[in-house]
Amino acid sequence: MNSPLKAHSSPPRILLASRNAGKLREFAGLLAEFTIIPWPADAPEIPEDGAFFKDNAAQKAAFARDWWRIHREEPVDFSLADDSGLCVDALWGGPGVLSARFAKELSMVEKNRALLAMLPLNAKRSARFVCVLALTSMAGNELRFFEGSVEGGLAAEPRGQQGFGYDPIFIPEGFNQTFGELSEDVKARLSHRAQAVQALRAALAPLGALVPRSDPGLGRGSGR
Ligand code: IMP
Repeated sequence: MNSPLKAHSSPPRILLASRNAGKLREFAGLLAEFTIIPWPADAPEIPEDGAFFKDNAAQKAAFARDWWRIHREEPVDFSLADDSGLCVDALWGGPGVLSARFAKELSMVEKNRALLAMLPLNAKRSARFVCVLALTSMAGNELRFFEGSVEGGLAAEPRGQQGFGYDPIFIPEGFNQTFGELSEDVKARLSHRAQAVQALRAALAPLGALVPRSDPGLGRGSGR
């Protein structure tokens, strides 16, 4: 990737404010030139109780940054949070921001079936995945947001083992297969997360080259 951040002697380190293994795997691929630090197993649950993707992303990125500053010595440059979900038109945009909290007692396989069963007969099956990323430097308080979405529709039943979450029931526009069936490479090209990361990368590239020293915001921080 042609990012000026590469010019730094060591890869910038990004704390990912998530324990979601699916997200972690995707970020490791999408941000391959960065060192991704997963949210530690012994750290507290990251709260997310906002009504909008952006609120939750902000809450998670700031919480992770603040916790890390107090509890860890290891230097980190950025805290990154992803709030995302599946918005189904026939369900008034739901589960949307509640995607992680929808039918929490069910396994993901059951959840996918339950969601499909909620669709009224002959309902429109259009849906989209939405992702909002919040990024903050460990040294500053400014948050930057990057968004992505992918249009598509719901399958008649779950199909495929790739990806995670609602991938087996989502068919991206222009395809016949679900994200659960399509290769990782296809999802990495067109997903909501891939698009948000593209926007993030575009914003970080010039910053990496010339971060004003007086800018306490998204410059490369000391990590403390
Ligand atoms: P949150 O961002 O932690 O609130 O969780 C979002 C939830 O939405 C995840 O737990 C998944 O169930 C779902 N989700 C978000 N992105 C994707 C994706 O790329 N594929 C499938 N499901 C997703």
